[in-house]
Amino acid sequence: MAKQKQLKLGAIIHGVGGNVSGWRHPEAITDASVNFGFYKQQAQKAESGKFDLVFIADGLYITEKSIPHFLNRFEPITILSALASVTTHIGLVGTLSTSYSEPFTVARQFASIDMISDGRSGWNIVTSPLEGSAKNYSKEQHPSHPERYRIANEYLEVTRGLWDSWEDDAFVRDKESGVFFDPSKLHTLNHKGEFFSVQGPLNIARSRQGQPVIFQAGASEDGRAFAAKVADAIFAGHESIEEAKAYYADIKKRAAAEGRNPDEVVILPGISPIIGRTEEEAERKYQEVANLVTIDKALDFLGRFFEHHDFSQYPLDEPFPELGDFGSNSFRSGTDKIKQNAKEKNLTLRQVALNVATPRTEFTGTAEQVADRVQAWFEENAADGFIIAAALPKGLDDFVDLVVPILQERGIYRTDYESDTLRGNLGVPIPANRYTKVNV
Ligand SMILES: Cc1cc2nc3c(=O)[nH]c(=O)nc-3n(C[C@H](O)[C@H](O)[C@H](O)COP(=O)(O)O)c2cc1C
Repeated sequence: MAKQKQLKLGAIIHGVGGNVSGWRHPEAITDASVNFGFYKQQAQKAESGKFDLVFIADGLYITEKSIPHFLNRFEPITILSALASVTTHIGLVGTLSTSYSEPFTVARQFASIDMISDGRSGWNIVTSPLEGSAKNYSKEQHPSHPERYRIANEYLEVTRGLWDSWEDDAFVRDKESGVFFDPSKLHTLNHKGEFFSVQGPLNIARSRQGQPVIFQAGASEDGRAFAAKVADAIFAGHESIEEAKAYYADIKKRAAAEGRNPDEVVILPGISPIIGRTEEEAERKYQEVANLVTIDKALDFLGRFFEHHDFSQYPLDEPFPELGDFGSNSFRSGTDKIKQNAKEKNLTLRQVALNVATPRTEFTGTAEQVADRVQAWFEENAADGFIIAAALPKGLDDFVDLVVPILQERGIYRTDYESDTLRGNLGVPIPANRYTKVNV
């Protein structure tokens, strides 16, 4: 019998993140964002639930209005390197911006994690939404939204080229003959393009999974085109199953048009399940976090998506203010959605801010109910899996302990790892080395 398609799972580890006031929850570890013990516990918990990956989000600019997790948190590559040594099977995916880094450095960093973890690294490519980031990187200006994606495209071309610098059997390491490597298997990139000039070769070889897994997060038109072309997996964000299905169909169609196998682009929406022993308990848990959020904090949280705009200048209980194009150079797909939703549903500023800061989602209920929703999204082609972003301090533990066994019982989720590389578990192919490909 053909094996049923299997759901994929990831876990965002985000310290006291999740909720703008989540750090005040009675069970929260208040320094969790810079507490290695917490990150280790979460990664090992996810691994005990046979998750495909842990995921570290990131940003490059803060103000005093940023949410607590953003104010004081680990840099992704650094924390993933540490997690590599306390885990054995789970993938390690980190966010790194193509607008504020250099391809040679980044290719090296992810290749190093890939080697340290023996084939478990992934790179979530973002273009950086926050204009203020330019001020931290000696730049006059934040690149425009279309330019950021042009940079990202060329950036990835360079990175992939560098990752192929060494053919897999290039290092002979023969003490007897004194041959350390075969020069015919070493390749120099010599890239010269619009944004980058990189000679190569890279000073690290390919890992067991060939290249780090490419993740992408960004759902605008440019973001989708980029994802369909390059992403092995996508971190998405949706408010409803209908929206998720439309996005899913669109990406799979675009991937096929790029000549790719659509099954090899794994779509993983982020969800924040709230699980109770009863529906009432789940609702009480939701209220517990929602009640921590004051309207002032919700306005600050909303403001970040619009370049830290000060929303306190508008009346709270009148229709959401007309913002024109404002926000489209930062989190474009997110800000477009917030504006459109407010208009369609005729929402006030207070409603929009609270919805964004403490969304009430359909993944709230008993473990059975949450498993039902997960299964429905999976089977109705709204998702290939999910990235769990815990809304409560014990949210990941609840999901692993209570929902995972139900998904396993239903035969849609693994009871053991198929592989010990991230590509192997996600079911995405190892890219052949371009130079080896030419030779055969
Ligand atoms: C689900 C999702 C998660 C994202 N996570 C991050 C992140 O961790 N760090 C970051 O700098 N940008 C993140 N972004 C922002 C995008 O990478 C991108 O910079 C911005 O949204 C503009 O792209 P878009 O308009 O195509 O969505 C995320 C976007 C989405 C949709």
